[in-house]
Amino acid sequence: MEEVIRIEGGHTLNGTIRVSGAKNATVALIPASVLATKPVRLVGIPNISDVKSLKKCLEYLEIDVSSTLSDEIYIDPSHMVNKPLDIEAVSKLRASYYFMGALLGKYRKVIIKMPGGCNLGPRPIDLHIKGFEALGAKVDYTNDTYTITADRLKGTRIYLDFASVGATINIIMAAVYAEGRTVIENAAREPEIIDVITLLNKMGASIKGAGTNVITIDGVKELGGCFHEIIPDRIEAGTFMILAAAMADHVTLENVIPYHLDALMSKLKEAGVHIDSKIDYVDIYRSDKLKAVDIKTSPYPGFATDLQAPLSSLLTQATGISTVTETIYPERFKHCEQLRKMGANTSVTYPKATIIGKTPLVGTDVWATDLRCGAGMVVAGLLAEGITTIHDIYHIDRGYENLDGKLQEIGAKIWRETID
Ligand code: EPZ
Repeated sequence: MEEVIRIEGGHTLNGTIRVSGAKNATVALIPASVLATKPVRLVGIPNISDVKSLKKCLEYLEIDVSSTLSDEIYIDPSHMVNKPLDIEAVSKLRASYYFMGALLGKYRKVIIKMPGGCNLGPRPIDLHIKGFEALGAKVDYTNDTYTITADRLKGTRIYLDFASVGATINIIMAAVYAEGRTVIENAAREPEIIDVITLLNKMGASIKGAGTNVITIDGVKELGGCFHEIIPDRIEAGTFMILAAAMADHVTLENVIPYHLDALMSKLKEAGVHIDSKIDYVDIYRSDKLKAVDIKTSPYPGFATDLQAPLSSLLTQATGISTVTETIYPERFKHCEQLRKMGANTSVTYPKATIIGKTPLVGTDVWATDLRCGAGMVVAGLLAEGITTIHDIYHIDRGYENLDGKLQEIGAKIWRETID
């Protein structure tokens, strides 16, 4: 038995969608909360399976977790116990690696299984490890398990060879209780990192430079509780912009910070999509005369790697030759194989995909090989003639809250079925 998503393509979308809280901020904010000694309340939590996995990790660490609203989580780490994180929930997502920095920072010791997550080609965590070691930790990796310990953590200068989101956040968390000053150079600048720093500073940390590539952390003795509202999900918003550019007469996205999406919006406009952005909402109108564009992914504020799969589906409908060059994950092109099954004219030579359009797409069986490939398949299914069946939808449910429900509300024919 397997649950699949089915889409009958060709229906026009119209209406308003509210964007949820940012997945990639949430999955760092939850582990960051364990650094506190008092309760932390987070609102804007998306209802996705990655959050459920992280809650299991919190409960395993004997942290009180509760919520009164559906998008809220109340985390009380006052009586937590630092146990080896060797449970299955850890392996369900990449972001469980944030417990490394958080538990090392708070207890000087963490034991954790190798985190899982989307298969995007090689995803090393050497920069995280080098950062912990620079702060004074010893790292052992045996039987798929990291044991990271430190007698003391001492602030230092850390230069990241690549502006890694995960390494930047993990090193910040390991450094908040360290003695003295830590400076991270070539830090990543993603909005989700700013959100984590905002939370930590509300808890009492002393972190400067959020949103720049030099972040300074002055160690403190204690972090208290706080209230924090999570930023909107720019990747979910971007996915909806692309869906709307494919099929909308007029779709409005609410709860958006448009400047987080400048790179995508400028590419969509270049392709001929009509977009009107205001302070916290965006109107999008489909274009029947899409033009090919060239995309190159890069760290924020560049074009987000997480949006290239959904955009690739749209580019099958653009006239001319589009190219997508991946500078973050050079092998993140599994969606192209799925698009070919639907009739797309696309070829891949790492790190570049070429899409020649416009080609009609035809519904068939496709696989969500990772989260954003899944989003790409939803875009393609809405565009295609006939019915598209998407398999392995657990990837989609890891990162999009109620994607099918939100699309039904604006007129999409999309539903779930259980098949043998
Ligand atoms: C985050 O992954 C996101 N995940 C990813 O979102 C996103 O694609 C990625 O950032 C890039 O924006 C979360 O926030 C949970 P990186 P992360 O460290 O932190 C190399 C999605 O679909 N690298 O910035 O793991 C790495 O191989 C997901 O929502 C090292 O070489 O990404 C990659 O080439 C998937 N060594 C590049 O840096 C390291 O130690 C950027 O990775 C760390 C990274």
